Formats: sequence, structure tokens, C-alpha cells
Amino acid sequence: MLRYTKTAMLLHWLIALLIVCAFALGLTMVDIHGFTPTKLHYYSWHKWLGCTVFGLACVRLLWRLWHPAPPYPVAMGQLQQKAATGLHGLMYFLIFAVPLSGYFYSLAAGVPVVYLGLFPLPVLIDPNPEWKPILKQVHYALNMILAGGVGLHVLAALKHQFIDRDNLFKRILP
Ligand code: HEM
Repeated sequence: MLRYTKTAMLLHWLIALLIVCAFALGLTMVDIHGFTPTKLHYYSWHKWLGCTVFGLACVRLLWRLWHPAPPYPVAMGQLQQKAATGLHGLMYFLIFAVPLSGYFYSLAAGVPVVYLGLFPLPVLIDPNPEWKPILKQVHYALNMILAGGVGLHVLAALKHQFIDRDNLFKRILP
């Protein structure tokens, strides 16, 4: 059976883990009342996790361009193959768009990001009170689309494993 490269597997699972952490932390931190030190810490960690996802997404895209995915099993119909390719494309877009929307939201809110508290990241736009609420909504909406996409992705993996029994899941497992 043809499988993904070890690097592709590592990037897939690392990005998945970091996204789950950033997502959970994002939902938790916005619900903390007041301006507590804990809230500020959570915001910082959330941003660092998100920026790490963006960096890894760049590496992953470059790797993917040089190392094509193994072909789908022949038993998989044309429509199913197109649906899978479409969903994978959407997820690639979102692993860039979600962190970028958060990054620009933070800049529009007048809070430049200092990665790990050590490395100031580029301030690409000035603080902008008009764009701030829009970017916040965009960040939220993209996150919800990502959550839906991940849900579908997991359901598809489970279908392949337990209904089609075509071992597709093993291609991405180390
Ligand atoms: C994988 C990447 C990311 C994920 C999955 C993610 C997820 C989330 C989620 C689920 C929320 C809660 C939204 C809400 O309920 O309103 C949130 C909020 C937020 N995110 Fe992200 N985020 C990511 C990257 C980033 C990055 C890179 C930054 C900035 C550098 C960032 C900045 C923020 C900020 C400032 C909020 C709070 C919005 C508010 O004040 O209501 N995010 N994020």
C-alpha cells in the first residue's frame, strides 16, 4: 500500500494537535470575565499556537507540492474522490486563513504579536477600529467552517475504516 511520507505524517498530526489546542483555548479565553493575568496568558498562548500553525502550514504546503499524495484506492468512485480532494483543498486554505485572520484581528485591535514573548512579528497594518469587529467575525466564522471541515474529515476517515474497510487511514499513520 502506498503511504504518505514520514514528514507529511508528522506535519499532519502536529498541525491537527495544535489546531485542537488553539481552538479549545480560543473558546475558553474569550469566556473569561474581566482582564485577568490568566486571560492575558491564554491570549498570548493562543496567538503563539496559531502562529506556529501558520509556520508549519507553510512547510506543509511546500512539502506537499514536492511530494504528491498517494493515489486514491481504485474502488473509490469519481465523485467521492472529487469530494475528498475538495475538502482537502478547503482545509489547506483554512490552515492559512484561520491564523491569518486572527493575526490581522490582533493588529487591527492594536496588539502586535511577540512570538513566545521574544520575537516581535511584522506589524502589517495600523490599528483600525472599523476593521477590528469585522476581522473578529471573520476569525470566528473561518473557525466554525474549519470545525465543520474537520468533523467531515473525521467522519470520512471512520467510514473508510469501518464501512469500506479499505485501510485508507493507515496511509497517514506512522
Ligand atoms: C490554528 C489557528 C487558530 C485557531 C484554531 C483559532 C481559534 C480561535 C477561536 C475558536 C477563537 C474564539 C472565537 C470566539 O468565540 O469569538 C479565537 C479567538 C481569538 N483568536 Fe484565534 N485561532 C487561531 C489563530 C490565531 C492567531 C494566529 C491569532 C493572533 C496572532 C489569533 C487571535 C485571536 C484573538 C485575539 C481572539 C479573541 C477574539 C475576541 O477577543 O473575541 N488566533 N481563535
